[in-house]
Amino acid sequence: MKTLIEFINDTQSDFPYATGEFTRVLNDLTIAAKIVNREINKAGLADINGYFGETNVQGEDQKKLDVFANNHFIAALKHGGMVCAIASEENEGLITYDNAYSQKGKYVVTMDPLDGSSNIEVNVPIGTIFSIYRRVSESGPGTLTDVLQPGNKQVAAGYIIYGSSTMLVYTTGNGVNGFTYDPSVGLFILSHPNMKIPENGCIYSINEANYIYFHKGVKEYIAYCQEDDPSTDRPYTTRYIGSLVADFHRNLIRGGIYIYPGTFKNPVGKLRLLYECNPIAYLAEQAGGIASDGFRRILDIKPTELHQRVPFFVGSTNMVLKAQELMKVHSAKEVGIVTE
Ligand code: AHG
Ligand code: MN
Ligand code: MN
Repeated sequence: MKTLIEFINDTQSDFPYATGEFTRVLNDLTIAAKIVNREINKAGLADINGYFGETNVQGEDQKKLDVFANNHFIAALKHGGMVCAIASEENEGLITYDNAYSQKGKYVVTMDPLDGSSNIEVNVPIGTIFSIYRRVSESGPGTLTDVLQPGNKQVAAGYIIYGSSTMLVYTTGNGVNGFTYDPSVGLFILSHPNMKIPENGCIYSINEANYIYFHKGVKEYIAYCQEDDPSTDRPYTTRYIGSLVADFHRNLIRGGIYIYPGTFKNPVGKLRLLYECNPIAYLAEQAGGIASDGFRRILDIKPTELHQRVPFFVGSTNMVLKAQELMKVHSAKEVGIVTE
């Protein structure tokens, strides 16, 4: 049995110049995760279900647990003092610190403190998604430039899934590893070493209620998934939970594609580049899969604003490649991309 701390120590010792600061960031995230996990587990008993009474910057109603999780992750990172700035889905602006200790932090974190929060009351898995970047500014409080880095600059990314068991799945660019939380001893234990997403899968995950607003390429891909062709295991099967973390986690293990496309109504889709797509894209690639906006690699997109949204196609390599092929043939003109 290897604990998360032992695993981090083993892997960090490969880097002779490691100072322990990065380890501390990861550790701080797990401290908040344990507190959030405890609260989620008793959500039906405590007065923590339901709405907080305010909307976030995205105009979405905040749940009490959104706010609780956000506060605890911010507090844990602040206490640790290793990050000079945080960008959260729940905060309009960048979170920085006015004390000199935290301003020295080498890292910045972007996070979706509670993903899939519409599923809280119905006991369906929800999650926390995070990315860690090295700051680019020299000193002082963290700046927008520090967090508006392309995803290919992530030094680590991961999620915590609060599901039938609670797991931390993360990468530092050297594969993906999953740790299951044992609440009886309060430890994350390595349970899923070196996770790999199958090259082919049979699951497609998309909110088909938006079908009439989809571009032609997405409609064609859905038609492809539904065709009868036993040699390629089609028709595939649909699984859509409505928590990106849970939908991605299942597809990572079983093989599948998750799509939240741009539509005629919302050309940039719904998911956020910094808090959702970049970390999940990094994990997908590290597990041997692909993530794109239908045309371009997600990790190469240079963000221009904190709450930027982007269409998202992620999962098993051959499934995403097929979807991209159909997007190119059928949708490029509709979304304003000119191809040869
Ligand atoms: P969040 O709870 O952080 O706002 O994210 C919800 C996201 C994502 O988790 C999920 O895949 C997607 O919204 C579901 O959206 P639809 O209800 O439009 O399908
Ligand atoms: Mn989310
Ligand atoms: Mn959220």
